[in-house]
Amino acid sequence: MFQYKGYNFPKNTVTPEYIDSLEDFEIRDSDVFLVTYLKSGTVWTQQIIILIHEEEGCNAAESQGSNAARSESYNATQSEGSNAAESEGSNAAESEGSNAAESDTNMKRMPWLEYNLEGKDYNMRPSPRLFTSHLTYNLMPKMLKEKKAKVIYVARNPKDAMVSLFHFSKILTYMETAKNIGDLMEKYLSGQVARILILFLTVVAGSWFDHVRGWYSHREQLNFLFLTYEEMIKDLRGAVLKMCHFLGKRLQDSAIDRIVEKATFKNMKNNPKANYEFLPEKAILKDNGKFLRKGTVGDWKNTLTVAQSEQFDEVYWQRMKDLPLKFVWD
Ligand code: PPS
Repeated sequence: MFQYKGYNFPKNTVTPEYIDSLEDFEIRDSDVFLVTYLKSGTVWTQQIIILIHEEEGCNAAESQGSNAARSESYNATQSEGSNAAESEGSNAAESEGSNAAESDTNMKRMPWLEYNLEGKDYNMRPSPRLFTSHLTYNLMPKMLKEKKAKVIYVARNPKDAMVSLFHFSKILTYMETAKNIGDLMEKYLSGQVARILILFLTVVAGSWFDHVRGWYSHREQLNFLFLTYEEMIKDLRGAVLKMCHFLGKRLQDSAIDRIVEKATFKNMKNNPKANYEFLPEKAILKDNGKFLRKGTVGDWKNTLTVAQSEQFDEVYWQRMKDLPLKFVWD
């Protein structure tokens, strides 16, 4: 690991030069970014966005700039315009694109911005480009504010995200297993999570509080849709519709049904692509561990003691009290 700009990065995946280059990374109006803190439903939402993207829209002209799409975003924008960068990109002969083969992994179709694992030139990708990121707002490309690129941010109850990480640490190859939940909680609340992750997929996320605050407080300067894991659990179809509207994609009911079906926990758990089973054996998960574990709301109640929960609430309250953010979780 090395420390850079206040965060810990895994040496074998990323370099300081690459992190620096992201600051000036050229954003296109048609780009779509999924941004999350660790264990907040990234792979789930990634799957949904890709499925939406790959479905045939019913009326592209109408849907691209629809009012419905605007009403869902905080900083509504018109339909995506074309510019030099986009048209250049759309001619690029790379395989990851709007017609990406079904056999491509989600990681390939919607790659990590901060981990360019395949070393491909993202500037050569055809539009619209889909990206995934755990980055904090301050590490994202500066052009994000100037462009109409769309950002879908998914937040999850941090207690559940922490418990999910706790279990994940037990099955992750090369990740130091958290000794116990109390030990992890101490690090989690102080934002040192990245320090215990030493796998090539190590994420650069800092603390949950800073992550959510950083993104949420810039929502009005971005083309931004804020969702929670909990609302996706409560009403998956509703969440898929919100994402469709935001992405300017009008789909037939039957297409929505297909997406919802493919995005259920049960179906994704049995989908090798969603469980990173496409990676070399034991590259990430050990002991036949599944990336999709439980997929529920409120699992923290089975793990944290009352005292730990109260301590968490206290920090939560201190850190989040001035943010006008209402969550639906328990
Ligand atoms: S990571 O490693 O940060 O990218 O993990 P991330 O994908 O953000 O979060 C993993 C948790 O999301 C759950 N998950 C789902 N829940 C419900 N439905 C579906 N379809 C789904 N897909 C993934 C996954 O099980 C992890 O949560 P836990 O609580 O550990 O089960």
